[in-house]
Amino acid sequence: MSDGSGAQDDQQLAVVVAKPRSQVAIESLQAEGVYDDTRSVTEWTADSVAVPVTAPPQETQFREVVRQVGERRLRTLDDHLRERGWTEAEIDAAPSSWAVLGSVVLIDIGDSPRPAEVGEALLALHGEAGTVLARHGISGEHREPSVEVIAGDGDTETVHTEHGTRYAMDLAEVMFSPGNKAERAQMGDTVDPDERVLDMFAGIGYFTLPMARAGAHVTAVERNPASFRFLVENVMLNDVDERVHPYRADCREVVPGFASEGRADRVVMGYYEAHEYLDSALDALAPGGVLHMHEATPDALVFDRPIERLEAAAAEADRGVEVLDTRRVKEYSEGVAHVVVDARVQ
Ligand SMILES: C[S@@+](CC[C@H](N)C(=O)[O-])C[C@H]1O[C@@H](n2cnc3c(N)ncnc32)[C@H](O)[C@@H]1O
Repeated sequence: MSDGSGAQDDQQLAVVVAKPRSQVAIESLQAEGVYDDTRSVTEWTADSVAVPVTAPPQETQFREVVRQVGERRLRTLDDHLRERGWTEAEIDAAPSSWAVLGSVVLIDIGDSPRPAEVGEALLALHGEAGTVLARHGISGEHREPSVEVIAGDGDTETVHTEHGTRYAMDLAEVMFSPGNKAERAQMGDTVDPDERVLDMFAGIGYFTLPMARAGAHVTAVERNPASFRFLVENVMLNDVDERVHPYRADCREVVPGFASEGRADRVVMGYYEAHEYLDSALDALAPGGVLHMHEATPDALVFDRPIERLEAAAAEADRGVEVLDTRRVKEYSEGVAHVVVDARVQ
């Protein structure tokens, strides 16, 4: 294929893929080493995008190979904002991090100038996305997000793929924490096949799915109807319905029945108020089992407070605790850390 410019034709190649598959395709093209990130992913038709490649891929599925014309990639958000006439001072006030979750870009917009223009610039930067969602916080015992569409078609439903695990979700209804990515992978790497696991605060399956994909048998409890709906959908989407038992309930109500069928090798407590549920967690955990307790802890109390709370609850139950590991997952807020303690309980 030639446009007579003498430019290397293969520099302009792109493969057409369906929009919902764009993230998976980009990861596959990167794995093949043919993804060309010097050019932008652009919309090709209403339901497809053109993903730039340096050569036709061998493994990645695609509809057709096409030629992209003149798609010089503005490499950063700043480039796009500069192109829109923003001053350097305004660009300094713009957000510096965001997450592309399938077809939705999630961003903490803070008090950035002209959020709508930031949204448009992010859509230009991430051609595979259709909506930009500004996040204004997560609140309540069901951890519900407060969000606002700042650009795009407004469709907040998406499927995000991470380490091979697929998460379907509606980001206007349920929370998703990009900052917990490493912890989600950690849980998938930590479990052994055929382990019996209780996930007390399962959400849409943040930890349940990677653990079940790794072969564990997970009882996943979630009280929020919206999150539970996606939990059930994601269990099917990841083909782990034979290994996951989802319950829409308060986890305290599930523990007695669960424990009567044999206690857990592992209990996961991915909730900042987890310490209030330690009695139930210990009722569910077999002697020698492992507990993962999350907490939002002021920096000065990291890791002492969660460990003291765990030891106090275990002492109540006349059980011993051996701390196996402690991790800072991410910053929860100014001076407060999201932490997790892994402990074996005798
Ligand atoms: C913070 S979210 C889970 C976050 C997740 N660990 C992550 O990594 O992103 C906690 C979840 O626990 C659910 N939840 C809170 N209290 C509960 C309870 N008593 N029983 C069952 N689920 C509960 C909330 O609805 C929410 O979906």
